[in-house]
Amino acid sequence: MNLNKGYWESRYEKMGGKRTVGKSSWDDKTYQEVLDQFNSGVLDAMMGGRRWGRILDFGCGIGRWRPGLERRCGLYCGTDIIEEVLQDGCMLMTDNLIPYPEGYFGLIFSCMVLQHVVDDELMADYVRQFKALLEPGGSVFLVENTSGPDNNYMRKRSAKDYIDIFSEGGLPLKKVGAFKEHSVLVSTEF
Ligand SMILES: C[S@@+](CC[C@H](N)C(=O)[O-])C[C@H]1O[C@@H](n2cnc3c(N)ncnc32)[C@H](O)[C@@H]1O
Repeated sequence: MNLNKGYWESRYEKMGGKRTVGKSSWDDKTYQEVLDQFNSGVLDAMMGGRRWGRILDFGCGIGRWRPGLERRCGLYCGTDIIEEVLQDGCMLMTDNLIPYPEGYFGLIFSCMVLQHVVDDELMADYVRQFKALLEPGGSVFLVENTSGPDNNYMRKRSAKDYIDIFSEGGLPLKKVGAFKEHSVLVSTEF
């Protein structure tokens, strides 16, 4: 399965830290404004006051959403394919394997990660793993770019594509909102 890991290694190395996410044209002020908009317009607006025991931040990168997620759970867990970016307490994936036990999470959150999974087989495998990692009644919360053309590191699936892929894997999703060019898709409304 193609994880496109080489692309992310060189992107993190060249651009470093927070400049790897968002647009390279953003200055610090704009970067912070987008973070604030996301925290209020997505996390606060769509998760409300809901709390979970354990949340997985899949493809956590530098942990941009960690403060907002930590406020909503007993234990924040992040995982990514790139070791250098991982903060304390986050776990490195071995190839495609998400390194946590079955039934461990109340919520799997993933922001701007599955849009970079260009390999359909890998995508289906992640859905299978998400399903296994969730406790009974657990939820998925995705924010993915669903517009524009594909390129070598982006697979622009539509919101319906995500709904179909997750439904095949036994995790029905619903689009509940948008953030800029991204769709917000959840398996449970909060
Ligand atoms: C655009 S960044 C988003 C990071 C973080 N979720 C955020 O919003 O700040 C995409 C992240 O997905 C990770 N990633 C890319 N391909 C992946 C894959 N096949 N499996 C797991 N993570 C992947 C990258 O290493 C990177 O940290």
